[in-house]
Parts: sequence; structure tokens; C-alpha cells
Amino acid sequence: MRIFTDYAGPTEETGSQFELVRTNLASIKSVLAIASVKGGTGKSTLAVNLGAALALKGRKVAIVDADLNAPSILSMLGMKPPRHLPMLEGIEPAAGPYGLRIISSEMLTGGEPPPVSFISDDSDNNNGATRHASSVDIKWTEALGRMLAQARLGALDLLIVDLAPGLDRLHALARLAPISGALLLTHTSGLASAAMRKAFEYARASRIDFVGVVENMAGFNCEECRSVRPLWPEGEVASIAAGAAVRLLGRLAFDPRLAESSDRGFLFVREHAATPTGKGLTEMAAQLETVLAARGRDGAAASTLP
Ligand SMILES: Nc1ncnc2c1ncn2[C@@H]1O[C@H](COP(=O)(O)OP(=O)(O)OP(=O)(O)O)[C@@H](O)[C@H]1O
Ligand SMILES: [Mg+2]
Repeated sequence: MRIFTDYAGPTEETGSQFELVRTNLASIKSVLAIASVKGGTGKSTLAVNLGAALALKGRKVAIVDADLNAPSILSMLGMKPPRHLPMLEGIEPAAGPYGLRIISSEMLTGGEPPPVSFISDDSDNNNGATRHASSVDIKWTEALGRMLAQARLGALDLLIVDLAPGLDRLHALARLAPISGALLLTHTSGLASAAMRKAFEYARASRIDFVGVVENMAGFNCEECRSVRPLWPEGEVASIAAGAAVRLLGRLAFDPRLAESSDRGFLFVREHAATPTGKGLTEMAAQLETVLAARGRDGAAASTLP
């Protein structure tokens, strides 16, 4: 846990956390947050597969796993957390397939005890009765701020930040780091659509800028019947996105092989490139690159929001 306790890196005295992060990410062309209102919409799966699709085209891509309490990016890529991190001059990213570079909270402990809980800023630190005696509580915004300020990412075409569910996470990230925009992932169900409508109201109020919406698990890719079958009742994602002037970047079908690839740590977008979901991911990555290139580094100039 040196990074959060002993590491003598830059402190607030040398500038605000936002400025430290901005300086550290200065050589990165685009920073994309992947967010959702509800959990399990496929954020981490897309972070890995969109990142890999672009890396396969020769782009320099890194992923920060910002789901600090439930990180999944390393295992989705079939990687183990490096045990001995050289951190004297910052956090060295783990080297993934196709040149992908990964920063994850798992790397900071090397998978070793003591157990660490990343808690929200307003959590009551004194309410420790139910906690493990040797656990360490760290505010997650502080931890993420340090990861972003100290990661040795260098020059990149794209940095993807994979968030835990909840727009509060996106809001907190936008206060910590200059982001080019956010990708909102949603399911198609009526409940998810309603949550998305709220998300856009919230985003407008807090001036969060979405580069697009992805409707995931929109239909079931049935290999035997060679068609994509309905999975949920028809939702309203497209019309809600249009009403909020946010582009629907794509619809991805559920493909059991994609779920398997996440569990087994191989890259669906490469192994199953010719399937409808594989093609959808590759096309989405290309579209995303175009959309990000068209906007300023910090996103605001080309904002779709008023
Ligand atoms: N289109 C898809 N087809 C098949 N499986 C999918 C698809 N999208 C996501 N999954 C699977 O659904 C599960 C949840 O996906 P994932 O972990 O990426 O969601 P998440 O939004 O990151 O979740 P959390 O909110 O907990 O961070 C994973 O097992 C993943 O492999
Ligand atoms: Mg996730």
C-alpha cells in the first residue's frame, strides 16, 4: 500500500489535484470515461474490447480501472496483477496484449493483504465496528486522483477510464481529471431507459458531456438460427438519446461467447471478429475514434449539451 501511505509523490502543496492530473495526462489525445447508471451493463467489457480494437489498429491505448473495489480489467485481459511495482517515480502501467497499458487498484496491493476498502467521501470513518480489524479505508476519489496523477502513461491516443456504476462516479471523475467525454452504457429494458432519461437530466444540470450512448445486450445473437433475436421488450433508448441530442453510437447483441471471453481472459473482438457483436465492436471503436478526434482535448468545445 505504499502508493497511498508511504509514497512521497507530489502533494496538494504543489498544486490542486486536478492540475496534477491535467499535467500528468498532457500527452494523451483523448480521455474517455465509460459510465452507466445501472450496474452490469457491460462497461468493463467494452473498455477492454474497444481499447483492444483500437490497439489492433496500432493506436496507443491505456485503460484505468476506476472500479476500485471490484476491478475486472486485468482478469478480462487474462492478466495477473504485477507483484512488485516500481513506484518510486510513479505507477508503471502493466503491459497488456497489443500494447494495451493497464492501471488497476489490484496492482497497488499486488493482491496482498491488508484488505483495502475504497470508501465514498461522505462515509463515516468511525463506523468501523463491522470492518476487518486490519482493513485500510481510503477515499476512492483520493485514490483515483493519485492513480491518475502518478500513472506513467506517456503519450497515448486514448485513455479509457472504466468506472463503477452510478453517475456520481462520472461526476467525481470529471472533478478529478479533464475528460474528453463519456460513453453511457445502458440495457434496453424500460427500467434502464427510465434511468437513462434521468441520467441525461442530471448530466445537463452538472454539464457532463456524453460522446454517445451504447445500447448493450440489445437482442440475442443466436448462432444456430443465424439471426439476432429479441432479448428485452423494445425500449426507448434511441428516442431518449435523440431527445437529449446525444448520438446512439451503437447497439450490441448479447453473445454468450463475449461473456465467456470476459471470464476466460481472451479478446472477443479479435477471436470472434466476424460475428455481429464482433463487427459491432470494431465499427463502434472506429466511430468513437472519429467522434473523439472531432472534439477538443477537454471535450467542452464540441459539447452536445447546451
Ligand atoms: N453483449 C454482451 N454479450 C454477452 N455478454 C456480455 C455482453 N456485454 C457484457 N457481457 C457480460 O456481462 C457481464 C457484465 O459485464 P461487465 O462486467 O462488463 O459490466 P459492467 O457494466 O462493467 O459491470 P459493473 O457495473 O459491475 O462494473 C460480464 O460477464 C460480461 O462478460
Ligand atoms: Mg465493470
